[in-house]
Amino acid sequence: MNQTRAPIVEALDALRKARVVPFDVPGHKRGKGNPELTEFLGERCLSVDVNSMRPLDNLGHPVSVIREAEMLAAGAFGAAHAFFIVNGATAAVQAMLLHSLRAGDTVILPRNVHKSVINALILSGATPVYVDTPVHPSLHIALGMRIEDVAAAIKLHPEAKAVFVNNPTYYGICSDMAAITRLAHEHNMLVLADEAHGAHFYFGHNMPLSAMEAGADMSAVSMHKSGGSLTQSSFLLCGEAISPEALRQTINLTQTTSASYLLLASLDLSRKNLALKGKAIFSHVRDMANYAREEINKSGAYYAYSRELADGGAIYDFDVTKLSVATGGVGLTGVEVYDLLRDEYDIQAEFGDTSNLLAYVSVGDRPRDIERLVGALAEIARRFRRPPAELPAYPMPKANVIMSPREAYYAAKESLPIPQSRGRVSGEIVMAYPPGIPILAPGEEITDEAIAYIRFAKERGCMLSGMRDFGAECVRVVK
Ligand SMILES: Cc1ncc(COP(=O)(O)O)c(C=O)c1O
Repeated sequence: MNQTRAPIVEALDALRKARVVPFDVPGHKRGKGNPELTEFLGERCLSVDVNSMRPLDNLGHPVSVIREAEMLAAGAFGAAHAFFIVNGATAAVQAMLLHSLRAGDTVILPRNVHKSVINALILSGATPVYVDTPVHPSLHIALGMRIEDVAAAIKLHPEAKAVFVNNPTYYGICSDMAAITRLAHEHNMLVLADEAHGAHFYFGHNMPLSAMEAGADMSAVSMHKSGGSLTQSSFLLCGEAISPEALRQTINLTQTTSASYLLLASLDLSRKNLALKGKAIFSHVRDMANYAREEINKSGAYYAYSRELADGGAIYDFDVTKLSVATGGVGLTGVEVYDLLRDEYDIQAEFGDTSNLLAYVSVGDRPRDIERLVGALAEIARRFRRPPAELPAYPMPKANVIMSPREAYYAAKESLPIPQSRGRVSGEIVMAYPPGIPILAPGEEITDEAIAYIRFAKERGCMLSGMRDFGAECVRVVK
């Protein structure tokens, strides 16, 4: 396959040069109808913000340049087929679940899934069986699924249609993708991977195993995260066992009929870039992250963790490009360090929670930016250090699924103050960072433990999300 080609970009270039007079949408007509926007984004950008037409193919029914680009992407990722997705990995997650699960089906998944997965369960009508993901005792982050816990879930639920795996988690933790895939397939279950944070696994050297290499059936890959493409652009990959024609129909249930060619072109060029230079790019990224870790750890204040955590179980592997830093040693929360970096040092980190800071290191970083981050962290430790406060460990409540997320979502509901919601069925997701695990998903019993955990999470300053009440005082419950 000729990975130097970028068929969508080539077709857009040809269109631009042809100076076709547009009597189609979008109505800005190559930017002329919106000078301020054109000034802001640039003429070149607006000149390729065009709609599907014969020379540019159609994302919903690709027969020419998009089809070729899909084949090149599949080749680059080692997948049987690759689909261009323009609504984030969220849309790819939705397509995977909607394609694999019908209402009433069961799916096995880790408790620390992204909210897009819970939301896709609402759409599909499937019932979740959660595998508890242990929380690291000092880092306070949710880990991966242990193979024995997956095996136990499969034994209890032989009717399950699929096993869902995070590869990796937000913080860089990987489960044993190969063993889980083997086990699930032995039980005729599909394997669906969330690789929103794992695009680089396909190109870098000595990275954790990618889902397609492990033999998984489908994977949602956020190319816009570590792959360098424009925000929202993603790939849905599938293996040989999946009919691409049928999967495309499922994707088309929710994918726009007006796919942005800016996003499609960015996917095409990012795939080309990584296929040709990915190994070098990600060894550079890995070296920068390793260097940053070494320097950060020299201070003795923070703990920038890496593969030394791997234990063959819940931390089967670690994504070394993730610069996850435990901040407890400087007596500051990750959120505080995150805010200080931005407010005092003009550095925008990806994420801060009560115990960790996550700095995203990727294809666009330069060594001098890394130096600046390392220097700022050292200075924060000097200027703002407090006596380290030991964060108490607190057990996550066990999920007690009473009804499917879809039933709960569409049921008649009322809002109750959280302390008065005991014994009721939650109608919404309640998510806390850290550890990045839902405390409650729609359809689950609100237990004393869940109420206590919400109180604990609020007291610790965790970020609570998913509830209609942004203040997290009231929860929606099924009537
Ligand atoms: C693990 C995980 N899965 C899925 C998604 C959804 O991806 P997107 O924002 O591209 O829709 C995210 C987004 O942050 C994520 O972290």
